[in-house]
Amino acid sequence: MKMKTEKISIEIEMLESFSKQGESYTNDTGSFGWRNPIRQDTGPILVDITSKTSPKRVLEIGTAHGLSTLYLVCGLKKELNPVIDTIEFDGQVAESTQQRMSQLEVPVKVHHGEAMEIIDQLTGSYDLVFFDAQKNHYFKQLKSLISKGLIGKGSVILADNVIDRQTECQPFLDWFTENDICHEIIPTECGLLFAQL
Ligand SMILES: C[S@@+](CC[C@H](N)C(=O)[O-])C[C@H]1O[C@@H](n2cnc3c(N)ncnc32)[C@H](O)[C@@H]1O
Repeated sequence: MKMKTEKISIEIEMLESFSKQGESYTNDTGSFGWRNPIRQDTGPILVDITSKTSPKRVLEIGTAHGLSTLYLVCGLKKELNPVIDTIEFDGQVAESTQQRMSQLEVPVKVHHGEAMEIIDQLTGSYDLVFFDAQKNHYFKQLKSLISKGLIGKGSVILADNVIDRQTECQPFLDWFTENDICHEIIPTECGLLFAQL
């Protein structure tokens, strides 16, 4: 694992034990969602894909406490000067996660706000996007990223929960098939989409 420093290993271990307790939050429609981090089988896959595709600019939608962010960091190549932007709409969570990420070798910026609003403010282009916030928002977030030129040919797309939350993800999944985009669903516990535009 690249860059899996002792500090990152300790953080990952701590977050994985914390996450077993589960944590609920209220989403934009006022109903409860679960702030579940990626499952244990998914972290090493994020590291593997990130390390093989060598992205310089990474966008994560759905930060929570930063478990997946840490795994993404582990796969990045330091010599490329990579950066991660990650979006979280809970202010307290965004702030504490930003603090946790402040001493990593890779700069991680936690953007506090609703994903569609933050996407509107982002500039440049991203080599890899990891979707992990509200599942029924994946499709509109994807369309917005494309229409703003934030992702394009060659960008790597990863999305969690495409099996256990398939119904909510279906319009997003259909888009890849309808547009003949090379993609696969990795059969992790929750299902991880891996595609390249
Ligand atoms: C499944 S958790 C993310 C887990 C994280 N990726 C990990 O593995 O540790 C989803 C997170 O997205 C946030 N979220 C949900 N909907 C959002 C939205 N529309 N905009 C920004 N953040 C959102 C929630 O507050 C929650 O912390």
